[in-house]
Amino acid sequence: MPIVDTFKSEIIAGLRETPKRIASKFFYDERGSQLFEAITQLPEYYLTRTEISILREHLPAMAERIGTGATIIEFGTGAGVKTKMLLEAVHNPRAYIPIDISREQLTHATTKLAERFPNLEIHPIFGDYISEISLPIPSDAGKNVIFFPGSTVGNFTPDEAIQFLRKAAALIGPDGSLLIGFDRVKDIRVLEAAYNDAQGITAEFNRNLIRRIGREFGVAISPEDFDHLAFFNSEESRIEMHLVSGDSRTLKLDDEEITFAQGEHIVTEYSYKYTPETFAAILTASGFSVQDRWCDENNYFEVCYATVDHK
Ligand code: AVI
Repeated sequence: MPIVDTFKSEIIAGLRETPKRIASKFFYDERGSQLFEAITQLPEYYLTRTEISILREHLPAMAERIGTGATIIEFGTGAGVKTKMLLEAVHNPRAYIPIDISREQLTHATTKLAERFPNLEIHPIFGDYISEISLPIPSDAGKNVIFFPGSTVGNFTPDEAIQFLRKAAALIGPDGSLLIGFDRVKDIRVLEAAYNDAQGITAEFNRNLIRRIGREFGVAISPEDFDHLAFFNSEESRIEMHLVSGDSRTLKLDDEEITFAQGEHIVTEYSYKYTPETFAAILTASGFSVQDRWCDENNYFEVCYATVDHK
């Protein structure tokens, strides 16, 4: 499937909007991916650690729900810790299908998993848009289960999440199911600390977008020209990350002149936080029914198991 590199055109289009925007998918160049890995280890960033603890405790029950001979499908191939845990727990998995827009990531993750699970069929798919993907396994070969951990769903708006999950339901068919992790609404101080860590790694992750723009467009701009801002917007139930321009400046990005006023904000990420009820409503609107849910002792994070509705 041909994948077009749309970085430059999407950056320019986003910076021409009001307010200015940069899509959060652009965080993850090589340095951004390393910084994100570092974020997952931070004391303030409870999400990854908490989800892993839920998996550790409840994977036998999750595997029971999933049943035997399932095909596990995953969008994006992260560090692989959670995937490995799931594949170890599921009874006799039929196959594993990772879907990613980075060929290197796919090759790397697939090679490592093949070493760990020599008898498992692995079918990596290089692709971006879920609607363009078709599964390489015959539809009568058992149940398809999408594993979508990490609260990645929180980086979509609720409408985008519904659209994505509807397409996911169509992809996996009527017997399909979903194991999905999301971050729960909680004390605002805990939420805001997770995106404003004392070591400044999240700030660096956010400002790395500026470094990437400088490199890819060949313009003189420094991450230090922008401040990191992260706060909880309670009305929208989301953490917002922004970059704030220290001075006024004009950048020539290819043929476009983009002007930043002093103190002007660029919105770089939304990270939605849900209650069990608001997230169940997202799943219902997407054509899924919640069957089971597991959370940690602080009620910080939830992993939810849902099946495709039969109409
Ligand atoms: C990947 N995603 C779920 C992270 C989040 O918490 O929304 C990305 C992130 N942004 C800042 N810190 C981590």
